[in-house]
Amino acid sequence: MNVRAIYPGSFDPLTNGHLDLIERGSKLFGELIVAILRNVDKDPLFTLAERREMLEEMIKGYPNVRVDTFDGLLVDYAVQKQAKAVLRGIRAVSDYEYELQMALMNRKLQPQIETVFMMPAEAYSYLSSRLVKEVYRLGGAPRGLVPDLVDKRLREKLQGAAAAIQK
Ligand code: PNS
Repeated sequence: MNVRAIYPGSFDPLTNGHLDLIERGSKLFGELIVAILRNVDKDPLFTLAERREMLEEMIKGYPNVRVDTFDGLLVDYAVQKQAKAVLRGIRAVSDYEYELQMALMNRKLQPQIETVFMMPAEAYSYLSSRLVKEVYRLGGAPRGLVPDLVDKRLREKLQGAAAAIQK
């Protein structure tokens, strides 16, 4: 069966953990739509256009993966795209409760849409966009956690700004 799935998230910014999941999802599903939430409340570090551009660049090697944006209810978007599944990553037990609540609420709203959980490689099990931003903001730039392009953008945005303040 050629299943279309949605991989939703904020992707602020994309990490190697997200990429790992995109790769796994691309092998499991016929088509994977990486859907960036257009949420004005969240005050993201990267604009929607910046996040989209970084994702577009990183998925170039996957012919069955594309990037889109959405707002409103995720399940409404999934129905609109005729997707049968939502893909989410689970890193540690701490993710489970929040993900379970979302998956069950989404099932309540649209029972025909299944949430599929996948685990990223254990090397990324502690990795989150939030921590990455905090570390770069404070001058750290650990190797291998984000794609080179994202590393460059984080340095420009956060470390450039920090250096300007210190002057
Ligand atoms: O990367 P994130 O921030 O963990 O992604 C969260 C996301 C985008 C999957 C979630 O906030 C979401 O689906 N938002 C859309 C609004 C919605 O459908 N809310 C009800 C979820 S039960």
